[in-house]
Amino acid sequence: MKQFAVFGNPIAHSKSPEIHQAFARQFDIDLSYQKILVSEGKFTVFASRFFESGAGANVTVPFKEDARQFADKLSDEAELAGAVNTLSRQHGVIIGDNTDGIGLVRDIRDNYGQTFCDKKLLIIGAGGASRGVILPLAKESPQFITLVNRTPEKAVQLAKRFLPYAVITPCTFAELNTPFDIIINATSSSLSGQQLPLCRHIVGNHTFAYDMMYGARPSAFMQFAEKHGAKAADGLGMLVEQAAESFAIWHGVKPQTREVIAMIRAIL
Ligand code: ATR
Repeated sequence: MKQFAVFGNPIAHSKSPEIHQAFARQFDIDLSYQKILVSEGKFTVFASRFFESGAGANVTVPFKEDARQFADKLSDEAELAGAVNTLSRQHGVIIGDNTDGIGLVRDIRDNYGQTFCDKKLLIIGAGGASRGVILPLAKESPQFITLVNRTPEKAVQLAKRFLPYAVITPCTFAELNTPFDIIINATSSSLSGQQLPLCRHIVGNHTFAYDMMYGARPSAFMQFAEKHGAKAADGLGMLVEQAAESFAIWHGVKPQTREVIAMIRAIL
């Protein structure tokens, strides 16, 4: 039986084993998928030991950059994101991919029926989560991407990195006062329940607001967007879609996601 795992710290909350086992049932594939709690600074030790026999691994916070270092070869997405969430062993070579961005795009586009083409897109946050999704979003041809961050210099630096691939402009929260079609919260503000300093005029009644975080209840960001007339969604679908992309890399088949999203929603 092929062995898979997810590495992180913390990891107890991870739903990846349930998601991958649900996908595997769709194809009668037998696999083992375990959660591995990695101590700080020990990613390479744990990953090397796992890949003596393991076939593939997902990597979550805070080891996505360590995973990039660990991989022998990187996909374009992983290279530009500077982070790897999917490792595969192929003929003794470790390949690093990043499926977060395509997972986000698939959830918003295919599950929520939104189109990106020619849309005004706002991304909030300029940390690792944001960096991981900008390239796949840019490939959907939005009219432009505005990138806002609490620490403005980080938005400037990140926008610069993606300028060859996207129409992307950095800005400050104070400068935001016109409506966007799609707003993506890629900050970790929802974890602490904090409100972002957002002007209500960025939301119109056609706006779609997406929080990359997920939880049993709508985040402060989702509540803000809904209060001003937007449709809002959390990032649970992204979690399942990025897992589906990893599954396709490892097994060569693309699983159905809708029922798995509903199943995970029920156990949140
Ligand atoms: P991640 O890998 O989850 O993106 P990160 O690299 O630490 O984590 O980045 C966290 C992001 O959330 C940053 O954009 C951070 O803004 P700063 O760069 O100014 O720190 C943003 N963030 C976190 N809490 C926030 C808050 N309360 N208000 C606004 N931005 C917040």
